[in-house]
Amino acid sequence: MADEVSKIVDRDGKHMLVCLVDGIPFPVFTGIRERLKKIKSWTPRADDIFLFAYPSSGTHWLWEVVGMLLRGKAERIKVEKEHYMLECSDPETLEKLESPRILNSHIYKEQVPTSILQNNKIVLISRNPKDIAVSWYNHNVADLETDYEGKFSAFYELYRVGNVPNGDWFEYNTVWWKWSRDRENVLWVTYEEAKRDLPSLVEKMAVFLEVSSTPELCQSISDSCSFQKMKQDKHNLIPCELRENMSFYRKGHVGDWKNWFTVAQNEDYDRIFKEKMKDCDLPVEFTI
Ligand code: A3P
Repeated sequence: MADEVSKIVDRDGKHMLVCLVDGIPFPVFTGIRERLKKIKSWTPRADDIFLFAYPSSGTHWLWEVVGMLLRGKAERIKVEKEHYMLECSDPETLEKLESPRILNSHIYKEQVPTSILQNNKIVLISRNPKDIAVSWYNHNVADLETDYEGKFSAFYELYRVGNVPNGDWFEYNTVWWKWSRDRENVLWVTYEEAKRDLPSLVEKMAVFLEVSSTPELCQSISDSCSFQKMKQDKHNLIPCELRENMSFYRKGHVGDWKNWFTVAQNEDYDRIFKEKMKDCDLPVEFTI
């Protein structure tokens, strides 16, 4: 049965198409509701690695890094992360993929089966929510399935209260952060630390994933995963019909929000951020 599609309508009457799963607005991937229901009782393999993040946090980037680390070479393979994404691939389809699988998702902690939370290695990625507002806005206007034609100022009004595809950045990150503290099977990384010093982050990930690495390998993975290289390779390597939306490689900067937020929006967001994050010590950098 086709998923029921809902609309989030902005103040100018422009809509975003979403599918509600457990009350959370998700993008309208065909069959997503049924698939996420199946995932709840799905048993992964012990060596599956999971990447969880709110969208626009750098999931494509770090998925590529982890893949190269596990393969032990800085070589890009012609596979898209979406084949390994819980929202897009049924458990039966995932079953056909070879180990080690690097699975990824934007689902909330409560939607993840306990077996994954307890037994698998999990990399959580966060990024400052002002840059996410800009990146996620640009993605949603580029994404034909969302069918959005609104302005950033109208999107911002919905984003600040978590009423956009994939819901509330605060809810998503604070719940994952509180759960993840002191868990040995979790590594929390940020987009900003990856931008600042990718080779060091690659090394940290190698230790966490228990794979061997050398400084040379970490450096060549970082070079192969630079923004320009990834954008170019994704464009050249993947046939057009199989290529994901290129807005996943838009600008790749920290602090682009300064080009989009008005002074009033910035003050507004700082106030919301202070209130929502008062009991959460997740480190967030708005500039580097
Ligand atoms: P921008 O829209 O700010 O450019 P995700 O993969 O989680 O959807 O995240 C997408 C964001 O990560 C986009 O941000 C995209 O440009 C950025 N990104 C993708 N590859 C990157 C890379 N190699 N280096 C830096 N940023 C990258």
